[in-house]
Amino acid sequence: MIIVTGGAGFIGSNFILNWIKKYTGDVLNYDKLTYAGNLENLKSVEKNPRYQFVRGDICDQKLFAELLAKHKPTAVLNFAAESHVDRSIHGPREFIETNVMGTFSLLQASKDYWQNLSESKRKEFRFLHVSTDEVYGSLELDDPPFSETTPYEPNSPYSASKAASDHLVRAYHHTYGLPTLTTNCSNNYGPYHFPEKLIPLVIHNALQGKNLPIYGDGSNIRDWLYVQDHCEAIATVLEKGRVGETYNIGGWNEKKNIEVVDTICKALDQLKPRADGKSYLEQKVFVKDRPGHDKRYAIDARKIEKELGWRPVETFETGMKKTIEWYLNNQEWVSNITSGHYREWVEKNYIQRS
Ligand code: NAD
Ligand code: TYD
Repeated sequence: MIIVTGGAGFIGSNFILNWIKKYTGDVLNYDKLTYAGNLENLKSVEKNPRYQFVRGDICDQKLFAELLAKHKPTAVLNFAAESHVDRSIHGPREFIETNVMGTFSLLQASKDYWQNLSESKRKEFRFLHVSTDEVYGSLELDDPPFSETTPYEPNSPYSASKAASDHLVRAYHHTYGLPTLTTNCSNNYGPYHFPEKLIPLVIHNALQGKNLPIYGDGSNIRDWLYVQDHCEAIATVLEKGRVGETYNIGGWNEKKNIEVVDTICKALDQLKPRADGKSYLEQKVFVKDRPGHDKRYAIDARKIEKELGWRPVETFETGMKKTIEWYLNNQEWVSNITSGHYREWVEKNYIQRS
C-alpha cells in the first residue's frame, strides 16, 4: 500500500488512476478537499477494493501518524499543496501553512513511523516529494535549462513555499536518514486540470465565448509536459530512484504563452467551430501582467532519462489534442466545478487586469 496526499487534485488524481490501471498494490488517498480537490476525478476507482479515501489535512500530524500506523504503507507520495501562483500573490498564508508546515508535519510523522520499522521494511520505505521547476527562479532566453544543480531562486510566494518544502525533505534525509526522493517538474497539462491555470482556462473561456486573458505581451515561456508522462516519471522515480536524490522532469516543450493560446484557438476552430464562423483567436485579450512574472522556465531532463530510462511519450501536439478532446467530451465536469467559489476567484483575479 502507498499513501498519496493531494490525490483529489489535478496531478494526484491522474497519478492514482494511472497507478490502479498499471501497477500493483493498494492506494490510500489523503486529501483535505480544498477548492482544488475533486473526488469526481476518481469516480471510476471509487468502488475498487484497491482504493480508499481519507479526508484530512497534511498539517494534522497526529491523524497522519495514525494512518501510517494502521496501514503500514511502503511509501508516502506528497502531492498535496496550494499550487496556483496568482492565488499565492493574493493570499500567501495558506501556501506557507500547507506547503511548508504541511510537508514538515508529513516528514515528522513519516520519520517516526520509519524509525520503528524492521530493518528490511526501513530499506523498502520511500518518502517521495512532488515539487516544481519554479523553485529555480526565472531564466533569460539564452540561459541553459534548469538542471538538478541549478541554485534555488524562487520568486513567488508559491515557489518560495515549495522551495522551503524541498529543503526540509533534503534535511530529513541528511539528518535522519529518511529515504527521500524529490521530483521537480515543469508545467503540466491534461485531463482534470482546474480551469484557473492557463490551458484549461483558455479552453473553458473560448467555449463560453469569453475573453482569453494573456498576461503582459504573452512572451513568457513555460516547458509543458502531458500529465500522464509526469505520472509515469513519478512511478519510475519511486521504483528506481536513488535515495536522497532529486530528479528534474520535463517535456522538452518550451512554448511562449501566446503560442499555447493560438494552438488552442486553432484546434477549437477545427474541432468545435464558433457558430458565427469566426476564429476563437478573436477572443484574445492582452491584460495587465502578473507581478514578478517569471520570464522563462525550461527543464534539462537528462538525469532521469540517463539514470532511470524515463522519457515523455507525448509531444506538445499529441498531448494538446488529447487534452482539448477531453475537455470537449467532459463539459459536465467543467460546469460542475465552475460554479460559486470559482466565479468569485475569476472576479478577484481578472477584474484588476482589465
Ligand atoms: P492541485 O491544486 O490541482 O491539487 C492539490 C490537491 O492538494 C487538492 O486535491 C487539494 O485538495 C489538496 N490539498 C491542498 N491543501 C491540502 C492540505 N493542507 N492537506 C491535504 N490536502 C491538501 O495541484 P496539482 O496541480 O495537482 O499539483 C500537485 C503537486 O504537483 C503540487 O505539489 C505542485 O506543487 C506540484 N507540481 C504541479 C505542477 C503543475 O503544473 N500543476 C508542476 C510541477 C509540480
Ligand atoms: P499558470 O497556468 O498559472 O502556471 P504557472 O504560473 O505556474 O507557470 O500560468 C502559465 C503561464 O500563463 C504563466 O506565464 C502565466 C500565464 N497566464 C496568462 O497569460 N493568463 C492567465 O489567465 C493565466 C492563468 C496564466
